[in-house]
Amino acid sequence: MKNAARVVVIGATGFTGTLVAHELAAGETPHLLTARSPERLAALAQRVGGAETRRVDVTDPGSVAATLRPGDVVINCAGPFTDLGEPVVDACIRAGAHYLDTTGEQRFMKRILDRYSEAARGAGVVVVNAMAFEYALGDCAAALATAELAGPLRSVDMVYAWGGGTDASRGTRLSVLRVVRDGGWAYSEGGWVRQRTGAERRTVRLPDGRGRPAIWFPAGEILTVPRRSRVERVSAWMVTGPAMAAVVPLAAPVLPTLVRAAEPVAKWLLQRAPEGPTPDARQRSSFRIRAEARGAGARNAVTVEGVDPYGVTAAIAVHAARRILDGEVQVAGVLTPAQVLRADELHNAPQSWGITLQEEREFPD
Ligand SMILES: NC(=O)c1ccc[n+]([C@@H]2O[C@H](COP(=O)([O-])OP(=O)(O)OC[C@H]3O[C@@H](n4cnc5c(N)ncnc54)[C@H](OP(=O)(O)O)[C@@H]3O)[C@@H](O)[C@H]2O)c1
Repeated sequence: MKNAARVVVIGATGFTGTLVAHELAAGETPHLLTARSPERLAALAQRVGGAETRRVDVTDPGSVAATLRPGDVVINCAGPFTDLGEPVVDACIRAGAHYLDTTGEQRFMKRILDRYSEAARGAGVVVVNAMAFEYALGDCAAALATAELAGPLRSVDMVYAWGGGTDASRGTRLSVLRVVRDGGWAYSEGGWVRQRTGAERRTVRLPDGRGRPAIWFPAGEILTVPRRSRVERVSAWMVTGPAMAAVVPLAAPVLPTLVRAAEPVAKWLLQRAPEGPTPDARQRSSFRIRAEARGAGARNAVTVEGVDPYGVTAAIAVHAARRILDGEVQVAGVLTPAQVLRADELHNAPQSWGITLQEEREFPD
């Protein structure tokens, strides 16, 4: 038992990592909590009723490598991933450990897919990005929406909408700065092309039929959907207020420069902001994620609704880590969330995810 594989949480003392630590503490899975600060780790271990901890700094690859055993499953919650994530993926593959993370940064996902697919397959390990609210639920919804459509698909459109406030954690805000600054990848005419965040706007519809303004953003499904299905175009839309939908596409060409200039002040302010939403605010924060798939002459939509994106993230990440640890994922390589979760995961989602599902055949345009 001494060298049995465990779930290793990186960035365990952060807002998301702490929720993951609580989720793990509620079960029987052996786990190890890591981050840079030994004091914060000790306080966390006490809050979760005792846990093994270890100091790990991801900017020192040796400290990650020395921590991992073959067969471990890493849950990486230390972002921004564009800056901090790659050495962890590399160390996992070298150690024969599986890797999953909570990233919402699409450019980082593309980098991992491009650079590590072969190495992960060769090492026989699972590497999966975005095993979180964004983009695991959307990826599973897209898999369901496309499952029964025959032949090459015309398009898949993802829609993300929020209710009750979008109170984000400090780490999320830092990552969003990177996404606005760096842009991402669009998928059209069967290939990926670079695009700026907010470059396009459109009116989207949710199941209530009401039109809402939305802007294009570099969601993870733009990468994951074309890897499973032949499709001409995949887009993702974030519902916003009308003013933002009017202004952002006009400002998109200069937004990266503006963000780069404002970044030092924004980071300084963020270090002084609360770590994340309160439990009450988390419960007020609702979401709808819709996948609309159009095939030749047929179209399906799947909408997932729920509350508390951070709680859902912790539950999904731990659920996926347990599946990998228990040997239930038989494929190796850089996988999509829907390849790691079961195909019917949204229909039979654990109650703790608190999600509901709506499926429409031939939804109106
Ligand atoms: N996709 C989604 O739906 C979703 C959902 C939730 C979160 N996220 C993402 O998850 C990330 C974390 O968010 P958060 O709010 O939890 O951030 P956070 O509260 O700032 O936590 C970051 C964690 O990383 C650790 N860390 C920072 N630098 C490190 C280093 N060099 N080596 C090791 N550990 C380090 C920090 O602890 P120390 O400083 O003590 O080391 C802390 O534990 C963000 O990128 C966010 O966007 C995405």
